[in-house]
Amino acid sequence: MYSTWYRRFPVPWDIGPRPELIELVKSGRIKPCRAIDLGCGTGSNAIFLAQHGFEVTGVDFARGAIEKAVAKRNASGVNVEFAVGDLTDLRGVSGPFGFALDYGVLDDLTHKDRAKYVDTLLKLTAPGSQYLLWCFEWAPRWWERPWHQFMALVPGEAEARFGPYFDIDKVAGQEFDSSKYPPAFSAYLMRRRLHLPN
Ligand SMILES: C[S@@+](CC[C@H](N)C(=O)[O-])C[C@H]1O[C@@H](n2cnc3c(N)ncnc32)[C@H](O)[C@@H]1O
Repeated sequence: MYSTWYRRFPVPWDIGPRPELIELVKSGRIKPCRAIDLGCGTGSNAIFLAQHGFEVTGVDFARGAIEKAVAKRNASGVNVEFAVGDLTDLRGVSGPFGFALDYGVLDDLTHKDRAKYVDTLLKLTAPGSQYLLWCFEWAPRWWERPWHQFMALVPGEAEARFGPYFDIDKVAGQEFDSSKYPPAFSAYLMRRRLHLPN
């Protein structure tokens, strides 16, 4: 579905490199290193990182997105490796990456796939690696219950999923406002701990 969407229509989230990422890189909180853009879409964030000294890999399971990302990379003149891959069962991409990035991917996945994604993230990162998660996040209203898990995290979920492995800092967000879309989001910058639980 995603692949057809990318090939046939402009996608609403394809809005260039994102402000939180730009701010974190320009302020030096995230420094050039080997980086991976998880669910990179058409590659704007990945290309931005490459333009700022990162050695970047972008992965997305939508072939149509990767085709567009490759065309954008070729036009930009920077070097980014793009690959088609499923983050719930990623093959052919090896870490460790010093920085992993997710804009709007984890919140797309079912709860079962979110757990597999966390396994993938742990394989791709190492102690000290940073991880930026930008996600839709709000408590479901009653009519949203059937589909909320395919579009948003619930408050506290990022801490529950990543807290055992990462120190977590909320770096941006929007409080719930039903007049907006999305009604709420959060961005978390995490650093993987030196010691994992047994
Ligand atoms: C909302 S879009 C965001 C794309 C990009 N991060 C951006 O900000 O422009 C979600 C992306 O996640 C990708 N995606 C969803 N599930 C995936 C999975 N299991 N493995 C890899 N990519 C996935 C989709 O193809 C889509 O490109």
